[in-house]
Parts: sequence; structure tokens; C-alpha cells
Amino acid sequence: MKPPSSGPTSNGNPSRDDLPRASEHWAPNFFGDLYERIYSRHILTADRTREETEFALGELGGCPGMLLDLAAGYGRHARLVARKRAVTALDINLAYLHNARAGLSAGAKARLHATAADMRLLPFAPSSFGGVMMLFNSFGYFPPEATSPAASSHEQPTAPTREVWRLPTVFYERGLAPEGFNVYQSENDATPEKPLVPDEPTDRALNEGEAPDPNLAVLREVARVLRPEGKFLIEAPNPAPLLAAVRRNPRRHLVMERSIIEDDFFFDEGTKVLGNRTRFVDGKDMHHCGYSLRLYTRGELTAALRSCGFVIEQTKGDYTGSAYESRTSPMMLITARRR
Ligand SMILES: C[S@@+](CC[C@H](N)C(=O)[O-])C[C@H]1O[C@@H](n2cnc3c(N)ncnc32)[C@H](O)[C@@H]1O
Repeated sequence: MKPPSSGPTSNGNPSRDDLPRASEHWAPNFFGDLYERIYSRHILTADRTREETEFALGELGGCPGMLLDLAAGYGRHARLVARKRAVTALDINLAYLHNARAGLSAGAKARLHATAADMRLLPFAPSSFGGVMMLFNSFGYFPPEATSPAASSHEQPTAPTREVWRLPTVFYERGLAPEGFNVYQSENDATPEKPLVPDEPTDRALNEGEAPDPNLAVLREVARVLRPEGKFLIEAPNPAPLLAAVRRNPRRHLVMERSIIEDDFFFDEGTKVLGNRTRFVDGKDMHHCGYSLRLYTRGELTAALRSCGFVIEQTKGDYTGSAYESRTSPMMLITARRR
């Protein structure tokens, strides 16, 4: 469980005291036992994990030294990587990290280091890793800071615009609509398909005129712990098809054998944050939680990476290596090199 090396961070990033306490953030509540049980059994299948890991090793395999699996969860990728080479799995959830090392062969166990820490404040010395992977929607977890220019000049900040989309009647009839969720668009009012977040191929300055983006602390930390020329593979959702799907179906009800996931989604165009409320059911166990995810266009994310010291090498649209297409690709898989 020993990280390759550790040392204090002295790079101007937030100190531990500046970070909101983990218990105040949505993630520890969302990424719990039921998330692991349901996702590992039904959604993040062994085949899918194998394909993703092969892709990641194709991108990072040539990087010398230790790899870092950032926000590694219960280690589905790190376990496969550790069959071949040394990897550190970092996650905020200690129980997940225990599971990541459970049942491995002695050799793989020796190669899989695990570190529980916050991704915004990595407990590693500069240049500790040859490659970093951050897979499956693990970036964008931190909401914009309240210290916008408007807030600091004591003006009322502009209220975030929350768009509420029509509900499929099935949920309405079943009485699952929560209180306050009472502004529905009729079928006729429904806005025609339009990109809510247009893809921006050019590098405009990220968040120009907006509140600082705390998610950039994560990218700066990745740059700090990577060796020069080291590579960073990051997967992020492609906002255009995701928001089109959410617009069509702001509520989702998945039934998988004895497990159920019920989601409802809302998108705030002001902050570009996709909010979610989830109910997980697994047999007799039930858990209410939710998440919020800052969505980035390709232009925004590549600009953010560049501003943190990276050169973009390629952007793929899925783990088969298809070219990224802004309208249809389910994700952006960006490989960036540390300058
Ligand atoms: C969507 S899961 C992805 C896990 C893994 N990469 C995978 O593909 O299965 C995101 C992970 O981020 C972790 N996480 C959330 N907030 C974190 C933080 N501030 N620092 C480190 N890890 C965090 C969660 O515990 C969770 O395991």
C-alpha cells in the first residue's frame, strides 16, 4: 500500500485546509457499496474493463516507471494493469482500495499500490509517475467557486439557469416526481433538438469571465506528479449526445435482475453542471444519492489541459479507437503529454 514516493505539495495548489471536507461533497455518498455492487455486476462488465485497460496500456504502456490510476474506484483497471506492471491506484474511498487488492496473485498484489487521497491534493512528489489514467467520468466533480467577481463586489450573483425537461409519463403516473419538480414542458413545447453545449473546436480561454474552475486543481496536480514527457489519458463524457439523451429522457429507470437504478437529471446552463438524483436498489437494500458533473466541450477540456502544462496528442471517441465525432461519440478519450 506504499506510494512510490511522497512529499509535501508546494506548487501553489490549494492546501488541505482550503478543500471542502469530503463529508460535505456528494461523492462519498454516491460511490458507496451499492454503486460498486450494481455497477460491477451489470454495467462495468469484465469485457468492457478488459477493452478499456488494453486501450489505456496502448496509450501509456510505453511510458517508463510507475503508472497512476487516478480515481481508481475499486481498481477494475488497476488490477489488470498490475498483472503486467507497477501501478498506484488512488481513490478517496478506502473500502474500494481494499477491494482493489483483494484476491490478487502475490505478484500482482506487490505491483498494485493503493493510496487513499483527494485527487486535488496528490500525496506524491513531483515527477513520480510515467503515466496517469483517469477513466470513466471521474473529472469535473467540483462545482464552480462562489468567489465570482459578482460575489466579491457584494452584488447578487446571476442565478443559475436550471432547465427542467418534460418527464416521461410513466414516472409521473407512478408518483415518482419529487416535490418542486412541477414545471413540465408539454410535448408541443418541447424544445427541438439543439446542442445545449456546442462543441468548440478552438481554444478560447477557459471560463472567460466566469468563476474559477476548481477542477483545474486536479489537472495541475496530474501535471505536477507526471514526469516531463509522461502521458495522461483522460476520459470525459461528450456533452452533446449526453445532453440530447438527458433532454429526451430526463428520468431513467434501469432494471437489471434484482437491481434498479433510478436517475433524474437536470442541467444548469449557467454553470454547465449536470446534476443528478439517483436511487439505487439491490435486493432489499436501497440508497438515495446523486452527483454533479461539470461537462466540458472538447475545446474547453483541451484548453484546460494546455493551460496546465500539457500538449494534446490525440482525441478518440471510444475505446475501440474510433475518431472523435462531436455529435455522436459517447466520450472524449484524450491523450495528453506533459511538456
Ligand atoms: C466514476 S468512479 C470511476 C472509478 C474508476 N476509474 C472506474 O473506471 O471504475 C469515480 C471514482 O472517483 C472517486 N472519487 C470521488 N471524489 C474523489 C476525490 N476527491 N479524490 C479522489 N477520488 C475521488 C470515487 O470514490 C470513485 O471511485
